[in-house]
Amino acid sequence: WPRGARREDGALTVGGVDVRDLATEFGTPLYVYDEEDFRSRCREFAAAFSDGDVYYAGKAFLCVEVARWVRDEGLGLDVCSGGELAIALRAEFPPERITFHGNNKSTAELTRALEVGVGHIVVDSYEEIARLGHLARELGVRPKVLVRVTTGVEAHTHEFIATAHDDQKFGFARETAQEAARRVVGIKELELVGLHSHIGSQIFDTDGFELAARRVVELLVAIRDEHGVELPELDLGGGYGIAYLEGDDPLDPKHIADNLRGIVTRACEEKGLPVPRLTVEPGRTISGPGGVTLYEVGTVKPLEGLRTYVSVDGGMSDNIRTALYGAEYTAALASRRSDADPMLSRMVGKHCESGDMVVRDLWLPSDLAPGDLVAVAATGAYCRSLANNYNHVPKPAVVAVRDGRARLILRRETEDDLLRLEVSP
Ligand code: LLP
Repeated sequence: WPRGARREDGALTVGGVDVRDLATEFGTPLYVYDEEDFRSRCREFAAAFSDGDVYYAGKAFLCVEVARWVRDEGLGLDVCSGGELAIALRAEFPPERITFHGNNKSTAELTRALEVGVGHIVVDSYEEIARLGHLARELGVRPKVLVRVTTGVEAHTHEFIATAHDDQKFGFARETAQEAARRVVGIKELELVGLHSHIGSQIFDTDGFELAARRVVELLVAIRDEHGVELPELDLGGGYGIAYLEGDDPLDPKHIADNLRGIVTRACEEKGLPVPRLTVEPGRTISGPGGVTLYEVGTVKPLEGLRTYVSVDGGMSDNIRTALYGAEYTAALASRRSDADPMLSRMVGKHCESGDMVVRDLWLPSDLAPGDLVAVAATGAYCRSLANNYNHVPKPAVVAVRDGRARLILRRETEDDLLRLEVSP
């Protein structure tokens, strides 16, 4: 840990590549993706849900190359903005395998989605239902629509990433979901095919998913009873937790699939409803575990009686999760072996604020020195995708490694990239 084998001299390898070679060739900070890890997680989910559909949630991490991996592994893609859609289209992702999400999609975004023929649009408000109906009429198309339902489930996770409790912005509460379905059914240019529920992210126990599944089935029943339509699809979102720390115990995709399938099947059979086709939208679970961020140590500052501050060449611009959610990570010296005693450390970035931490508490060898490389594990989800240019720091490059070979898949930003936005000469 972090994932990857160690060479005899103690250097970490990812996908068979020595991290020192990666740093030399591509610079640091550097996001490194183990392509085989990503692909095998796609396959694992696809196998577990072989009687349903798996859509990778691109918000976890998306670029053209990754969209191609997802496409080639036969998964669908969940996008939630025009930008994510543009990346998918550049990758020639089949539009019919794309689901378009978002609580405030613009008219331009909806128009583009309809023009290219995305497979599903998840509606999130009354305004959007009317807007979509109007656009579909204008364009002469009939999109498949899912209604996003908030099931009132309190997911056991950080407040910012829970999405189904009552007091938040997404979807339709149970009381209004039926009215939403009524409105979609009332617009002949829209084809209501199912309901959607996503309860939150980085969740380890199945209770919340189970309760949400039961509640959406109740709604399917209510919709059948009112409109006489039996909706063929049920999308239960993503949110499955991954291991950031050594003790974390993630759910197994097969276990998730068996559980959800069992609950939906039983609940439907009880009510005499045909069992809908299930969809899940894992993001973090697919891209997270196989990603590692490499940094170079710049300064090592021991604070007497407190701890040692280890500054690296990135920080909250390439991983804001620690500052934003109090997220915890594991990191280790990656470029050599050390038998020195461990020292209580805090790995911090180069940004101008003291909340700029990559790893809040960790033990690093006491002979750590400038020029050493450190690797942070499980940074493949919501790190590059949440990256920002705070302090005008350019975003790091992304490299994919596989079978002992490394390939640049997103180049490092340069100061010229930042200056390109300036309109003053
Ligand atoms: N489907 C929908 C509708 C979603 O909103 C999300 C995540 C997913 C699927 C994928 O969830 P996952 O399997 O990746 O947990 N920035 C936060 C996570 C925000 C998740 C937003 N929605 C973080 O860094 O933890």
